[in-house]
Amino acid sequence: MRLEYPLHRSRRTRRSAWVRSMVQETDLSVRNLILPVFVREGIGIREPILNMPSVYRYSLDQLLLLCETCVNLGIPAIALFPYIDSAKKDHEGSEAINPMGLIPTVVQDIKSRFPGLGIICDVALDPYTSHGQDGIPNLEGYLQNDLTVRQLVIMSQVLVEAGCDILAPSDMMDGRIGHIRRMLETGHGSKVHAMIMSYSAKYASSFYAPFREAVGSGSALGATDKKQYQMDPANTDEALREVEMDINEGADMVMIKPGLPYLDIVRRVKDTFNYPTYVYHVSGEYAMLRAASAAGYLDYDRASWEVMQAFRRAGADGILTYCALDIAARLLKG
Ligand code: PBG
Repeated sequence: MRLEYPLHRSRRTRRSAWVRSMVQETDLSVRNLILPVFVREGIGIREPILNMPSVYRYSLDQLLLLCETCVNLGIPAIALFPYIDSAKKDHEGSEAINPMGLIPTVVQDIKSRFPGLGIICDVALDPYTSHGQDGIPNLEGYLQNDLTVRQLVIMSQVLVEAGCDILAPSDMMDGRIGHIRRMLETGHGSKVHAMIMSYSAKYASSFYAPFREAVGSGSALGATDKKQYQMDPANTDEALREVEMDINEGADMVMIKPGLPYLDIVRRVKDTFNYPTYVYHVSGEYAMLRAASAAGYLDYDRASWEVMQAFRRAGADGILTYCALDIAARLLKG
């Protein structure tokens, strides 16, 4: 192909909105959006989160109102994250496997009222552990992989029995997808329908900071990090191996996280596996947009829209984003 000016003028097809829409290569739809939500005990609570403007921790009654909004907007699924009272946290994250715990209770209630709304549950111990790590550390502080996986399998069972549709293991322990899948296949009842969206390529990122405040794991974590299990931001081949293993172990969907700084990974994963591929536009990325727009540096609505387009262009089938309500409302307006 030889493109030469003036036979070829790129601007011809940019001249008016109708033709721009004709040549648009990717699109954004509400079905691409997943809203992450923070849940807490109590009643009548909608508690602001430091560093995440317009994002709240909801008590169940308030959360149900939010679910109704999601259904009305057409958002297909929400992803639940708990804020656990520090009195309930311990070394093993025992509260994570309590069938009467916060998340199982909330899932049951949402599912009975909004059966058509997909429920994604995070599978990891960090909101439940006194040290804020995603698993169970030994005396040297090294997370014990197989012991942690056993806990995650029980946690997954509890969540699915409560009605969770999609388990989303975000812990980055090795082999957890296979163990969870085997539990689902060999267990009683209809657990074979439960899906797994694996946080396959999850990087040890500084962009999770506002989230850790939101679930209350940040202060417990202190100065320690998660580099012994989350991926090195310098790596890309390794992301493909992680994704491949998770697919082989029985994941139905895979996820890359964070989002915008890792678009190259999204594209590589999508091209290599042609698998349902999701991206998590994480708390720090959201906070940057909000902070910059509050400072008057950019326009939140336009910038967040552009970020969503970037994810779609990179090959993401869906986006977990705190912007989901705003974007969905704009899509509805047309
Ligand atoms: C923890 C988990 C994290 C996020 C989702 N699940 C944080 C972490 O790994 O420390 C981050 C999400 C966000 O920043 O929005 N298992």
